[in-house]
Formats: sequence, C-alpha cells, structure tokens
Amino acid sequence: MSGCCGTDTPAPSPRGTDSPLVIAVAGKGGTGKTTISSLLARQAVEAGKKILAVDADPPISLAYALGAEPRPTVGELRWRIITDPEEKRRIGDQPMREVIIAEALQTLPGLSLLVVGQGEGAGCYCGLNELLKYGIESLAGDYDVVVIDCEAGIEQINRRVISSVDVLLMVSDPTMKGVRTAVHLRDIALKHGVSRDHRCGLVFNRVSDGVGDLPDRANELGLEVWGQVPADPQVAAFDLEGRPTMELSGDAMAVRAVKELAKTLGL
Ligand SMILES: Nc1ncnc2c1ncn2[C@@H]1O[C@H](COP(=O)(O)OP(=O)(O)OP(=O)(O)O)[C@@H](O)[C@H]1O
Ligand SMILES: [Mg+2]
Repeated sequence: MSGCCGTDTPAPSPRGTDSPLVIAVAGKGGTGKTTISSLLARQAVEAGKKILAVDADPPISLAYALGAEPRPTVGELRWRIITDPEEKRRIGDQPMREVIIAEALQTLPGLSLLVVGQGEGAGCYCGLNELLKYGIESLAGDYDVVVIDCEAGIEQINRRVISSVDVLLMVSDPTMKGVRTAVHLRDIALKHGVSRDHRCGLVFNRVSDGVGDLPDRANELGLEVWGQVPADPQVAAFDLEGRPTMELSGDAMAVRAVKELAKTLGL
C-alpha cells in the first residue's frame, strides 16, 4: 500500500505484553462513535487504567465529550513545523514524543487527551507524519489503554496515529443499512492494513425498539455483535445542554450498557 510519497506503509509492529490495548472506534457518521468513545474512556478511568484518549476525527468532538478544550492539536503542531522555520529548528532538536507531550497532550482528571485535528492539506509531508506518528506511538506505550475516536473509516489511522489497533469497534444504528456500512468500513480498514491481528465487532447504538434479527445478519456478514446501547434520554439532554458525556450519572442507561461493552473489550 502506498502513501503520497509512494512509500510502502510499514507492516504493523508486533505488540509486546506490556503494550497498551488500542481500541479504535469507527462507524458511519452520527451513529455515536464519540459518545461511545467517551464512555469507554470513562470506564477505563473507573477501572483504574492509565488511559490515552485520542480525538482523531478532524471536526473534533471527543474533547468536548470529555469536558476539555479542543486545542492544542497535533495538526496545529504539524502546521507550525511546516510553516515556521524557527519552530522547525526549535522542535527539530527534541525527540518528537517530548514535543507532543509538551505541545499537544492535555491532562484531564484521570486521563490524557490527544487531539489530532486537521490534516496538513495539499503537499507531501509523509516524513513529518511518520515522525509525529512515531512520537504518538512511543507516547502510547506509557498507557494501559488507548481509545481512538476515528473518522467514519479508520484508513487514516495508521498513517497519522498508530500502526495498528487491537480492537476495531464499529458503531452502527440498529438498521441493516448501518450493518452493511460497518462491514464495508471494516473491509476498508483491513485493506489499509490497520492491523494484522485485531478483533473486530459491532455495537448497536441508540436502540429503542430492539434490533430484530440484525445480530444474526451481521454474523452472516462476518461481524460479531458485542453489545447494544439504548437510546438514552439522559445522553440527549446532556447534548442539548452542551454538557460532557463524562458527567452522565453512573446509572444512565448508556453508561451501564457501555460498562458491559467495556468488559467484552477486555477493559
Ligand atoms: N445512546 C444514545 N442515546 C441518545 N443519544 C445518543 C446516543 N448516542 C449518541 N447520541 C446522540 O447522537 C448524536 C451523534 O452522536 P455522536 O456525536 O457520538 O456520533 P458520531 O458517530 O461521533 O458522529 P460524527 O460522525 O459526526 O463524529 C449526538 O447528538 C449524541 O448525543
Ligand atoms: Mg464524532
């Protein structure tokens, strides 16, 4: 597979036993990726895990769901390196991991947040992207769990964030169309070499009238179903008020459902 320089994407490196559990959350637009990512992050915090949450969707929303500001971003850091020779010189002298910690990592109660932000636009910056990715991967090694809120697909993840994921969690609405989209996105992820040996499964979100035979149909298409999250009026109310989902009460339906899901994922 080629990047924009025509270079081959390196094969995902094998993980050591002490490497983090990397969970990428993907799925069709608006199905609940960010909500579920933030609630998984919350479960990891409650389980006492050291967690790095990565907002890898360019419009940025995981930061808000976690009650944080959406800046600074890795994209802004990248842009400074590209456009400002002084910054390039200053930053160029330091290990990228330290640069990311100093310039882009946010520390929130119980967890760290990295906002990827916008891509670099026109031009070829594969070398810089590789360097930044190397920095992020090295940083990820400090954590027990990494949860990545992706764009709909996750084909950019191994170019911009991390070479491979352990768990690919597809989020779908309870419709056959949603299941088909999830299968399609899963296939694209596989094609782009997102991981060599990851587990991949589906969660139905915003379920209000059951899921009928959708789990069987998903299984027939090679997608395991790992759970269901109900349509939760508390989530909708928080959304209306612009409050972070991290602050939902522990007995909210969605929080309880994601707690079950987290167990399935090995959190
Ligand atoms: N279980 C749920 N119950 C009620 N509302 C929900 C639930 N899950 C998500 N929502 C709402 O659905 C909307 C979309 O959710 P979210 O932003 O998490 O989706 P997304 O897949 O991240 O979207 P995008 O593709 O735009 O990034 C939000 O308004 C959110 O509050
Ligand atoms: Mg989102």
